[in-house]
Amino acid sequence: MSMAVASPTGAGAGDDPLLAALPTRREAAGDFTPRSTLPYDAQAEQLLRCRVGGSFMGLRPIERVEREVAGLWSCLGLRAGHAVLDLGCGPGLYGSRLGARGARVTGIDLAAAAVEHARAEAEAHGWPCRYLRGSYLELDAVERFDAAFLNHGMLGHLEPAEQDVLLRGLRRALRPNGRLALEVDVAPPGLAAKPPSETRQRRALAASPWSDRPHRWLERKLLFPAERQRVVHHVIAHHDGSIREHWVRLELLVPAELEQRLREHGLQPVQWLDPSLTAPPSADAPTRWVVARAQG
Ligand SMILES: C[S@@+](CC[C@H](N)C(=O)[O-])C[C@H]1O[C@@H](n2cnc3c(N)ncnc32)[C@H](O)[C@@H]1O
Repeated sequence: MSMAVASPTGAGAGDDPLLAALPTRREAAGDFTPRSTLPYDAQAEQLLRCRVGGSFMGLRPIERVEREVAGLWSCLGLRAGHAVLDLGCGPGLYGSRLGARGARVTGIDLAAAAVEHARAEAEAHGWPCRYLRGSYLELDAVERFDAAFLNHGMLGHLEPAEQDVLLRGLRRALRPNGRLALEVDVAPPGLAAKPPSETRQRRALAASPWSDRPHRWLERKLLFPAERQRVVHHVIAHHDGSIREHWVRLELLVPAELEQRLREHGLQPVQWLDPSLTAPPSADAPTRWVVARAQG
């Protein structure tokens, strides 16, 4: 499927020297492969160096994390001693706070530096957390958990076949009646009728999770309504003229289809929640959580 993107809108559109330097590319949803070229492992050390107050630039502010942790504790029905799987745990912002409340947390992440950070912090505080380097697409079926969660819309970053691998693994990893919470990006109502579009944001930074040197970062968000895909194109340019690019292609999920998919994997949807995890989402909420229960 190929569909041209409409005229760009947003800051600096049309005359951006960063874009002029880019190789030309036919901008169609199907052309953005592989699905993600984000260098999670290679970038983690730099991400950990970029702190803003108590938060990490590129991850969520700590106050928001704390609110979400309280919401997860409640919607996952957690108690001290429960075994919880934190999928794509990063530096353990969520897992370690759940551990501080008494949950026995296992965090899994591809990024070695993030796992080491989470491990060191949990050890220093005596929290019952263990952090493992690995992929949540290769879950160990031997262990059983009372609950699992995946945030930041990461399910939609996976190819459909990989989504099935993850859901199958989670069904095996959860105890009967164990709970799963997934934070997903959903297709807004009427999306299919919209034309393809693009927005751009440009920043000049002394340092960021992308680089420890002054650089410009152009973020292009391309929407392909017919394919229900969003592509995020990151262009990082240094003063010496070097340019790096990364791509993320994600699927905007349809709630009813996701519910069906979960049921097919023995995961019964029980609740939809807004990003704060305290109330039902509005009809047009672009991001929301679904909570499902593993069938016995
Ligand atoms: C947006 S970050 C979120 C980190 C953490 N959950 C948080 O909210 O602070 C996504 C994380 O998922 C990890 N990740 C991506 N794909 C993964 C995979 N297949 N298996 C394990 N971790 C993965 C990345 O390394 C990254 O740390």
